[in-house]
Order: sequence, then structure tokens, then C-alpha cells
Amino acid sequence: MPGSSRTLVTCTLVDAQSKMSTKEKLIGHVMKEEPVGSRCKVTVVGVGMVGMATAVSILLKDLCDELALVDVMEDKLKGEAMDLQHGSLFLKTHKIVADKDYSVTANSKVVVVTAGARQQEGESRLNLVQRNVNIFKFIIPNIVKYSPNCILMVVSNPVDILTYVAWKLSGFPRHRVIGSGTNLDSARFRHIMGEKLHLHPSSCHGWIIGEHGDSSVPVWSGVNVAGVSLQGLNPKMGAEGDPENWKAVHKMVVDGAYEVIKLKGYTSWAIGMSVADLVESIMKNLHKVHPVSTLVQGMHGVKDEVFLSIPCILGNSGLTDVIHMTLKPEEEKQLVKSAETLWGVQKELTL
Ligand SMILES: NC(=O)c1ccc[n+]([C@@H]2O[C@H](COP(=O)([O-])OP(=O)(O)OC[C@H]3O[C@@H](n4cnc5c(N)ncnc54)[C@H](O)[C@@H]3O)[C@@H](O)[C@H]2O)c1
Repeated sequence: MPGSSRTLVTCTLVDAQSKMSTKEKLIGHVMKEEPVGSRCKVTVVGVGMVGMATAVSILLKDLCDELALVDVMEDKLKGEAMDLQHGSLFLKTHKIVADKDYSVTANSKVVVVTAGARQQEGESRLNLVQRNVNIFKFIIPNIVKYSPNCILMVVSNPVDILTYVAWKLSGFPRHRVIGSGTNLDSARFRHIMGEKLHLHPSSCHGWIIGEHGDSSVPVWSGVNVAGVSLQGLNPKMGAEGDPENWKAVHKMVVDGAYEVIKLKGYTSWAIGMSVADLVESIMKNLHKVHPVSTLVQGMHGVKDEVFLSIPCILGNSGLTDVIHMTLKPEEEKQLVKSAETLWGVQKELTL
């Protein structure tokens, strides 16, 4: 090649290189990434106290490769997403996205709904329900539109009624609509039991079932440590006249939420961690048993179309099975009473 042509080629190469971005100079492409999308995506709707505690718990447990956040408060949403993204170095979740447009949630495996209005002073429970139903009427169809095969996990209160509402509005089969239910109540119970016995809560077994909150039902016959029934050791356990007053443990579970709200204004960490535990069982197909809210019509004497918590098996397909508990007549009576109360509210709702 004559000298002048060689100089021209070299100059063109140098020129082309100088026009390349740092990224182009650093990284050589082997193949174009195929748009496979996320294989395990989780969405959290509502970035309030509960939503963010849930999001952080999910991230710290490495449960997804993409986390999507949705809220109507755009600045708060953007700020929360940026704050999480700044922690990416310490996480193993590749992608954290946020938008008020639900297209950002597309193809989620699990969608956790924590959005909801809080009760205003003097506002009746029924009125709060209807306000949250109106919010759900917007949220649920949007979730369904972009993730028609997802598993819906409802956390917003009143959780049992709103799980029913989400089931109705989504048109999903019952195994794909789950309420966080008494998963938190049971965790609180096991914590207090652990404090009483000086044991880790994971070694303290006890199930709170039924309606999340005030009317929840502790199943005293099942309370055990290492298979040793505590009621076998103390037949009066949970009853009036129990010298150890175990009934107070359930009262502490019910009062616990009110106490935390009185002290810090809301509850967040425990509910966030407990929801992440449920999401883990689904994402990792663990077939673990959790007390969560499911359609209980036809079980334990319940005739109404309501959602209440009983022990359920969670895996990759959602809520695949329920455990038949041996309940005492008074425990079943309490479930039936809760069901009637819930149905009384549900039948007044405009869906
Ligand atoms: N199931 C449980 O065990 C449990 C425990 C604690 C709290 N909760 C419930 O969780 C819910 C959230 O509590 P919080 O303390 O996070 O409340 P919060 O007020 O801090 O947050 C609620 C969020 O929902 C958002 N929101 C409202 N309408 C929306 C819509 N249409 N679309 C998207 N986002 C919307 C708000 O902008 C806000 O960011 C409440 O209903 C609360 O009672 C349930």
C-alpha cells in the first residue's frame, strides 16, 4: 500500500475511535441480548410504610431479579426508587424500576398490594372499606392487564375483605389471590411465646387463624415446642382460670398493632418481613405452610363467600392446598361469627 493510503486508513481508524463512547471502547459485543425479560419479577403497589418495608425485605432476601414499584404519589415514588437504586451495590437484584404507569409491572410473578387509604377520624370501617374498594377498582384491573398470570398478594386493610374484593375484581382463580391474613398475627404470637419460654420463635409453634386483627382465633390445642403440646402440660391453657394466663399472650398479639401505631404512628417492619416470607415460599416453590387468607366457604362450617386465614401451602403456582385443622367447636364458632361479620360488610359493597 502506498504511504499516503496507509496514512489515510490509520487516520480514519483513529477518527472512528475518537468518536466511540467510553462504553463502546470498554465493552466488546459478543451477541445482542435477547429480550427474554425478567424471569422472576415482583411488583409492590403502594410505596408507603408497609410497601417500602416489604420492598426492602424482598430485596435483602434476593427473591427476584426485577422489582417494580407503583404509587400515585410520583415524587415519593421516584425518591424511594432512587434511594433503593443507590443501594444496588449491596443488593443482588439487577433491576429496580418505578412508575405510576402499570406497564412497568408487566410480567410480574407476584404482585403485592399495600396501597390504601388510612382511616380518617370519625370514619366508619365500612366507609374505609368502600374507599379502599374504589382504589382497588383502579389498581387490580391494571395489574391483571399487565400480569395476567401473576399471584396477587393483598396486604392493605381490612385485608380479608380486600382479598375478596381483589379476587372478584381480578377474575383470577382462588389459588392466585392470597391475603397476608394472620401470618403477622402468628409471628407476633410466636415472638411473645418465645419471650415467655426463652426460646427462639422458630422453635415455638402456634397458629392464629381467622380474621386478621381483633377477632383472630388462637388454636391453643396446637401450641407446642418440639412436638410437646403445651396444653397437654397445662390443660387450662388459653382458658379462663389458667394460673399462667396464656390468654394474655393472644391479647398482646391483638393489642400489639395498636401499641406500635400509638408509639410510632404505623406498623411496617414486621409486616414487611412477614410478606417477604410469603413471597419467598412462592418464588422458591417451597411448599411451606403459612396462615394466610383464602376462600374458606364450605370449611369449618363457614357458609359465606369470605376469605379468612387457615394454614395454607404456598408454592410456585400460588396457594395449592389447605391444611385441615382439628378445631374445637368454640373455635369453629368464632370463624363462623367472623365470616358472618365480613359477609355483612361485603354484601353492602359496590364492586
Ligand atoms: N395486613 C396486615 O397485616 C397489615 C399490617 C400493617 C398495615 N396494613 C395495611 O397496609 C396498608 C398500607 O399501610 P401504610 O402504613 O403503608 O400506609 P401509607 O399511607 O404509608 O401508604 C399507602 C400508600 O398507598 C398509596 N396509594 C394510595 N392510593 C393508591 C393507588 N390508587 N395506587 C397506588 N398507590 C396508592 C399512597 O400514595 C401511599 O404511598 C394500609 O391499608 C394498612 O392498614 C396491613
